[in-house]
Amino acid sequence: MMSSPLLSKMREDYKLGTLEESSVLESPFKQYEKWLGDEILWKLVSEPNAMVLSTCSKDGKPSGRVVLLKYFDENGFVFFTNYNSRKSRELTENQYAALTFYWTQRQVRIEGTAERLSKEDSEKYFAVRPRESQIGAWVSEVQSAEVTKQSLVEAQYKLEKQFKDQPVPMPEFWGGWRIVPTSFEFWQGKGGRIHDRLKFKLNPMVIPLFKDLHIDTSNNNNNNDSSNSDQSSPDPVPLNNSTNDILNEGNDNDNGRWIIKRLAP
Ligand SMILES: Cc1cc2nc3c(=O)[nH]c(=O)nc-3n(C[C@H](O)[C@H](O)[C@H](O)COP(=O)(O)O)c2cc1C
Repeated sequence: MMSSPLLSKMREDYKLGTLEESSVLESPFKQYEKWLGDEILWKLVSEPNAMVLSTCSKDGKPSGRVVLLKYFDENGFVFFTNYNSRKSRELTENQYAALTFYWTQRQVRIEGTAERLSKEDSEKYFAVRPRESQIGAWVSEVQSAEVTKQSLVEAQYKLEKQFKDQPVPMPEFWGGWRIVPTSFEFWQGKGGRIHDRLKFKLNPMVIPLFKDLHIDTSNNNNNNDSSNSDQSSPDPVPLNNSTNDILNEGNDNDNGRWIIKRLAP
């Protein structure tokens, strides 16, 4: 067991900067995009698109787990999973959800509601997943009572044979969820421990202008060189490109849609 003096001495020297009301972007999506861009550039975090998804059962029991962000735009943040999983069950029973990104001396918290992606949009993404990840989506349905390492390997082998020389169809039980934000919190660690914490809340007086979800399938990664899990699949989304392209339309003016408030650290 690691000794507690060792843990209590662990302290990061926060030096990366500040987050001020005067310089934060008016759109929290743009601010998110800016910070994600920093992480991609700095390469200090192995998967900047990994996020903790917190859900709650209908009787109020919370659970969290890491999932990978695969798309985002002003409509929300999208990840993919098995619709029979615990997270999907909880999102179906209780649509409220939270996302947490832990980055270099920064944290982004997003709260909102969950909605299923259309089958069509899920299929667009499924089509650009590596084949092994497509098979992995089918393997994820092996029921928990039956799960042994061997049963999973056998299921994978059987599915590879079943779909040999043909495209792997998307399973009915698999697809995307979109978390539609109602609030964002940006936390910037600062020396002296007076950290910056800015919260964006939807302005109830402003009617949102939603845009269509645009799924960029141009970067087709349909190859065999990655493992069959969601965790390690390469990103077919524009995350590897200039993140400025994700929210492509121009300026930061968000027409007062979000109210920004500083919180105590
Ligand atoms: C880095 C990382 C990325 C992951 N990405 C996903 C993902 O995108 N989708 C998914 O269903 N599970 C993903 N997982 C696995 C989940 O964390 C979780 O173990 C699994 O989905 C079962 O969760 P549930 O029983 O709460 O539904 C990931 C795990 C890690 C560590």
